[in-house]
Amino acid sequence: MMRKSIQMALISLGFAAVACGGGKGGATTPGGGGGDQNAVYGPLEVGADWESYTKVNSTPSNCTDHGGRLCDTYVNDVGLEAYKNEDADIPSGTIIVKQSWEKDAQGNPGARGPLFIMAKKDAGFDDAHANWYYAMHWENPTEKWAARLGGPVYWRSPSAKVNYCWGCHDGYDRALGMVPEENRAW
Ligand code: HEC
Repeated sequence: MMRKSIQMALISLGFAAVACGGGKGGATTPGGGGGDQNAVYGPLEVGADWESYTKVNSTPSNCTDHGGRLCDTYVNDVGLEAYKNEDADIPSGTIIVKQSWEKDAQGNPGARGPLFIMAKKDAGFDDAHANWYYAMHWENPTEKWAARLGGPVYWRSPSAKVNYCWGCHDGYDRALGMVPEENRAW
């Protein structure tokens, strides 16, 4: 399939590694975004209340595509039932937040990794990408990542820094990768 091959090409170009929360762009624009207002660090906006959402995984998933970390996935009330039903359309107003964790020496959740956010917007927001908004927010990057990123990061649509998100997600049904079955809370 066409989409699959684009996705594979992106992965082979190393885009999957960028999902680690890294990205060459980040290092050159520490916190400042290099004139890109949507890459300037600040408090989380869309999804800021994610801790009140429903966690849809029972055990942390191995989210290889997000930097080989462990992930917990939270969905707000607007999208909860639709998220769990693969035949349902995702309603506008849905917000999904993934809290990632760096693995500790035992392979368990250790330091907090980035938050990965997707929000379904109304038609016209970005029709080419099913009107999904993407963001990555990392308040306290680990030492290794802080050196690479230049400090905390907040990349969000329409910044080009999140193009690699839809570069991968566009290839999935409903643009959702879905919590792996073995980790699902439903
Ligand atoms: C190389 C492919 C790939 C890239 C790049 C990628 N993701 Fe994902 N994403 C996935 C997969 C696969 C899942 C489901 C499995 C999991 O939990 O890791 C997922 C899950 C998610 C989820 C939970 C909702 C869902 O899809 O089930 C969010 C939110 C998310 N990603 C946001 C992002 C953001 C934001 C970016 C960019 C900063 C990004 N992703 C980059 C593959 C990717």
